[in-house]
Amino acid sequence: MISSDYLDMPPLIGAGGTALLPGSKSISNRVLLLAALAEGKTLITGLLDSDDTRVMLAALHALGVIVSTQGTDTIVHGCGGRFPERRADLFMGNAGTAIRPLTAALALLGGSYTLSGVPRMHERPIGDLVDALRAINCSIDYLNQLGYPPLAINLGTPNVDTPIRVRGDVSSQFLTALLLALPLVSQQQDVVVEVIGTLISRPYVHITLELLCRFGVHVENENWQRFVIPAGSRYTSPGRMAVEGDASSASYFLAAGVLGSLHGAGDAVRVEGVDAHSIQGDVEFARVLERLGARVEWGDGFISASGLIPGRKRLTGGIIDCVAIPDAAMTLAITALFADAPTLLTGIGSWRVKETDRIAAMGAELAKLGAQVEAGEDWLRVHPLSDGQWRSAAIGTYDDHRMAMCFSLASFGPADIRILDPGCVSKTFPDYFQVFASVARPVPVIAIDGPTASGKGTVASKVAAMLGFHYLDSGALYRTTALLALRQDIKLDDEARLSELALRLPIRCDGSQVWVGPEDVSAAIRTEDVGRAASALASLPAVRQSLLALQHSLRRAPGLVADGRDMGTEVFPSARLKVFLTADVQARADRRYKQLISQGISTTIIDVLRDLEARDARDSKRSVAALRPAQDAVPLNTSALDVDQTVDQVLQWWRQCS
Ligand code: DC
Repeated sequence: MISSDYLDMPPLIGAGGTALLPGSKSISNRVLLLAALAEGKTLITGLLDSDDTRVMLAALHALGVIVSTQGTDTIVHGCGGRFPERRADLFMGNAGTAIRPLTAALALLGGSYTLSGVPRMHERPIGDLVDALRAINCSIDYLNQLGYPPLAINLGTPNVDTPIRVRGDVSSQFLTALLLALPLVSQQQDVVVEVIGTLISRPYVHITLELLCRFGVHVENENWQRFVIPAGSRYTSPGRMAVEGDASSASYFLAAGVLGSLHGAGDAVRVEGVDAHSIQGDVEFARVLERLGARVEWGDGFISASGLIPGRKRLTGGIIDCVAIPDAAMTLAITALFADAPTLLTGIGSWRVKETDRIAAMGAELAKLGAQVEAGEDWLRVHPLSDGQWRSAAIGTYDDHRMAMCFSLASFGPADIRILDPGCVSKTFPDYFQVFASVARPVPVIAIDGPTASGKGTVASKVAAMLGFHYLDSGALYRTTALLALRQDIKLDDEARLSELALRLPIRCDGSQVWVGPEDVSAAIRTEDVGRAASALASLPAVRQSLLALQHSLRRAPGLVADGRDMGTEVFPSARLKVFLTADVQARADRRYKQLISQGISTTIIDVLRDLEARDARDSKRSVAALRPAQDAVPLNTSALDVDQTVDQVLQWWRQCS
């Protein structure tokens, strides 16, 4: 079910196929800025189209840089080291990769600028960068809270005679910002940057240095503590620039390739747009997966994961130093649920100052799934979940794209996963859920709908038994609600009380046996009185809504055969096979009559016929979930078929579509 507020993930049984990755956010925003500052035109292919790159493009536009498109390519007309607009108010959204380098570049160039963002951006520290820039006489003021955006930049008198010192232990983006901006003032002399403290997230600085090279600036890297931009450096366009696929986002698909195999129905999942030569540190995630027992293949322009190495049943737990893969490390917090021992992620202090406090957010949401989680300032320990420990949950995403994408992987577990505010993925991967769905293999459902006594119950339970699938007799849920309502004297039009009853139905189904608490009600729910009451309360929208979650929760590996009235239309609209069983009313009356008599219930064929007609009318005319075939259902008239013939036909269709 999709709405803008949430997305219900179907439970998954496997994965397989190829995911084309969007362009890397880190590379896209760096390349846009470099191309804008360079001399000459740059044609960029594979640029990410997302919130963060749009923020950068809008800022460049406001600064007077001309950007055009040619098909799917982007052409940036470089301004040769000087932005045409000397004053502008820039909105940076929540894009750290935009505000930090722009702050540095604008402060060095001087002008009259303000930079602001969404409320969360105003909680993300920028003081270390501002301190470094102020120390060389740039003019920057805080407009609100000391140490945080929004900022005002004016004309300063930058002096780069002495080394520029910047802290490297909170975010490497401050160093990156300086490295991207300082070649603007290195025409006459070497410019030196010194890192205070240990530099975290070195792979991101590596991306920066690689891209500077492509734009003609060769920085000397002295052991990640001192960087020298040689005198005379200036940006020149490489002409063309291809943006790699996003390696952090590759992690979800590679993890899917591994988790999908746990149910025995997985194939390789391949991500295209990254490989062993990628300049992004997060490709290391694939090596971590290998160390945890995954089977990974590295090729030219792709990486693929296909389950575990022979002999392994689960991923291994243990300690993983994530300092080099801070973003992809979030994915490990989810794969840890499927490991054979607790997983300790270390070196993730930077999570605290990302789109949200990711350590807190991850801990809270994993706990909702039933996981035991411990957290510290810069670490997180996640304990694995056994099948019985999983709890269904609505996962909060904290306006953090990576929270939403990570938790989609929880749908490989035996619980119902709802992702709240799924639209937040637009920050870096607007069509993430579509791409994920293209490689995900949901637990298969065969939906068999039809009118009363069309034989669907018998057929569905036999099909389920033949395939080893679970079986859902949805009518039994309505009947059980009706039985309890009759016993508790709840009026059959009291929608509020009935839906409350349905929501907390203490029911347990085992094949065709139905239990309410300790009582076997299998026979009691089959009486005509209960059937009539069920038909009446089934027309109440709130009752149907209450029973929805229960029905969804029965979709479990290896598969489900569900029978009812609205299995193919409302409850499992994505069912792989939908069959609509019909039979002439006379044939159905004969069957139901024989069934009732065999159960010792006395009735007449005329009564049964009348009752069936009345119930058909009510089920098909009601305003909610009326009995009708789904558009993609195959009709099957069973008047002249016996049960085995009907079952054979359904199985034949199943083989054709699976
Ligand atoms: O299939 P059955 O006769 O056991 O169903 C009992 C009643 O429940 C039937 O009158 C219609 C209702 N029902 C429904 O509305 N939707 C379903 N999916 C299943 C049954």
